[in-house]
Amino acid sequence: MVERARKKGGFKAEKNEIFQIFPCDEIGAERLILVGLGKKKKSTLEDIRKAAGTVIRTVQNLVRIAFLPVDNPREIIPVLVEGAILGNYRFDQLKSEKKEIELKEVSFFEGNSRFPESKFLEAVALAEGTCVARDFTNLPANLLTPRKLAEEAVKLGKKNNIKTTILNEPELKKLKMGALLAVGQGSQNRPRMVVWEYNGGRKNGAPLVFVGKGVTFDSGGISIKPSQGMEVMKGDMGGAAAVISMIPVLGKLKPRINVVGITPLVENLPSGQAYRPGDVLTASNGKTIEVISTDAEGRLILADALVYAGKYKPKYVIDIATLTGACMVALGVHIAGGIMGTDQRLVDLLMASGERSGERLWQLPLWDDYRPLLNTTSADMKNSGGRWGGAITAAKLLEEFAEGYRWAHIDMAGMDNQEGDHPYQIKGMTGWGVRLLSRFALTQSGRK
Ligand code: BES
Ligand code: MN
Ligand code: ZN
Repeated sequence: MVERARKKGGFKAEKNEIFQIFPCDEIGAERLILVGLGKKKKSTLEDIRKAAGTVIRTVQNLVRIAFLPVDNPREIIPVLVEGAILGNYRFDQLKSEKKEIELKEVSFFEGNSRFPESKFLEAVALAEGTCVARDFTNLPANLLTPRKLAEEAVKLGKKNNIKTTILNEPELKKLKMGALLAVGQGSQNRPRMVVWEYNGGRKNGAPLVFVGKGVTFDSGGISIKPSQGMEVMKGDMGGAAAVISMIPVLGKLKPRINVVGITPLVENLPSGQAYRPGDVLTASNGKTIEVISTDAEGRLILADALVYAGKYKPKYVIDIATLTGACMVALGVHIAGGIMGTDQRLVDLLMASGERSGERLWQLPLWDDYRPLLNTTSADMKNSGGRWGGAITAAKLLEEFAEGYRWAHIDMAGMDNQEGDHPYQIKGMTGWGVRLLSRFALTQSGRK
């Protein structure tokens, strides 16, 4: 049948090309859908993820789908499953009319080689976790305030048996988190910090700690942003969404490892109470920061969260944030996030997880030569190093607070929002980071 499609139907098997056959019961399925992968030598697992997404997105109203991979099912089935679930996602919770027919079943033919169920469950958990993060980021800031996001995190924690705690303003004050509190002080929606602890590993085994930037809306504050496109800043909690959405992934897969998630949550608004340019803030490690731009708020809330991370005597700390427009300028949108760090092995491990998960990273330098750009006469540092090398100077500020452990920083600006068309990513928020961080945690737990 495939041969006939090629010869008579003109199916060329180009990347994401679709060809449909309605075989009238010859094979016991209503239709057979061929999807092209292009030249075999050049096709990657990411291409297969995309192919699965293309099938789901172009052929609507599928209820059951069975994949029939041509070869290497061990590698291919997981990415087919991921692509299918990710491609099937819609954000319709705020629409009066919902999509009618839902994809109910994804199955596959494993051929001769026995396919391990654990790999299937992994793919499902990673893709579903991503959809959780997409829901969080797609929700607008009037519906997803710091408080609401914190409550949702606690709900996920309860469901998955992972201890999840909310730190409120009085506690943040007690911890002297002057940078985090300053950013949050302009909004009626008061700041929070969510901390979750997953204990799947040895008792007292040093945990991995993930820190995610959670700005539920970034107007820029007093240094207000231009209004065009500002609505996208409802997704400025993409880092926090990724970290919180690891809760169901770890809950389902139960890897043998200890993991902690820390997410500072604020809304950055201008008001009579807002922090201002020129203010000097004292973070929880005692270091002082002069505010040059209230729009460089992400690094401020992460500073206090990174200090807090040190309490866990972590094996590694990884922060993830929609941090700088400069990173988007450097690496483009939807191709790769930026990564910098104080431990090259950690950076390499994360880049490998990125390659495997399809959420790729590219390293920028963290040389001390960039540090003087943050010098100021008024404080230990200022919160903006200007336009040039903006992704790096932001990371240099973070480095001042990531003390006493091995650390890497992921700048995911530009990864969080999909404006165009993508095979397994409908227009809107991508839920980027869940697959990357979860894959890293799984690998660290010893899973292949
Ligand atoms: N959340 C933004 C960065 C961003 C921009 C993310 C576009 C996604 C898309 C961040 O808080 C910000 O405003 N950064 C400033 C820093 C500057 C004032 C030093 C920037 O990149 O312009
Ligand atoms: Mn900002
Ligand atoms: Zn921001």
